[in-house]
Amino acid sequence: MSLADSIGRVDKGGAWGQFESEETDRTFLDSEESHVSALVAAIRTYKKGTHLKFVDLGGATGRIAEQVLRAVGNEYDISATVLDIDRRKLKEHPVISFTQHDARQPFPDSYDVVCARYLLHYNSYREQQTICNNIAAALTSHGHAFLIDTIPPDENERKRWNEVCEAMTRMKGSNEKFWSLEEEIITMMSAAGLSLATRVPDDLVPYSAQDFWKARYDLTAEQTRNLDTLLECKPVVGSVPILEFTRTSRAG
Ligand SMILES: C[S@@+](CC[C@H](N)C(=O)[O-])C[C@H]1O[C@@H](n2cnc3c(N)ncnc32)[C@H](O)[C@@H]1O
Repeated sequence: MSLADSIGRVDKGGAWGQFESEETDRTFLDSEESHVSALVAAIRTYKKGTHLKFVDLGGATGRIAEQVLRAVGNEYDISATVLDIDRRKLKEHPVISFTQHDARQPFPDSYDVVCARYLLHYNSYREQQTICNNIAAALTSHGHAFLIDTIPPDENERKRWNEVCEAMTRMKGSNEKFWSLEEEIITMMSAAGLSLATRVPDDLVPYSAQDFWKARYDLTAEQTRNLDTLLECKPVVGSVPILEFTRTSRAG
């Protein structure tokens, strides 16, 4: 059993990043450009030619790392690393180093730019704090850390997301919450010693994750019925702000 299987929270077939269904993955594809732009802008705050270490936590098949390298690989001496818990997503790559790693464990190196995109909510609320602490511990003194995740807009919506998440991941009975609100993420990072430096508001129309979840997970007919009941046939909504953290607060 792989490390990922053992925590029972990976998606079907490890297919993330291969985009087998254009419809369900469009939301995530559409958002890549603005997310990569934010990472590139942070990299460009460094002097040209600098040696920089970039890591994508839960970076799956490396799509974001590849785009970052395409954008600024000629301007900087960048070592790019993808750390992911799911061994099936790792690959041989001429430039990017893919390593199996659980973000709940201290990271193998320090990094100037850390990206964690759609990673946090795979982990319980308590685990998210550990991940934030690990990010802070691995961030160089002038480093930039990006948390980009689907965030429920309020407590009520979060409650429904948690219920769905439990149903989806067959973790019924768990009292842990998975989806953090934006202020909770900021508080976790602050407890880890990092402050919000910039916030790029959501560039996406709030989307319905209902069809996405149905497509992504192997649901039995009963689980599908339960999901519909949970959601009361009302789509859940979320937003995806880009949250950038540094050691010194620059937010107004
Ligand atoms: C929804 S995918 C996002 C992939 C990629 N970051 C992107 O934005 O396209 C979540 C990824 O996080 C990984 N993951 C979940 N929990 C993890 C953990 N504790 N440590 C490392 N990777 C984790 C999963 O294996 C999966 O590849």
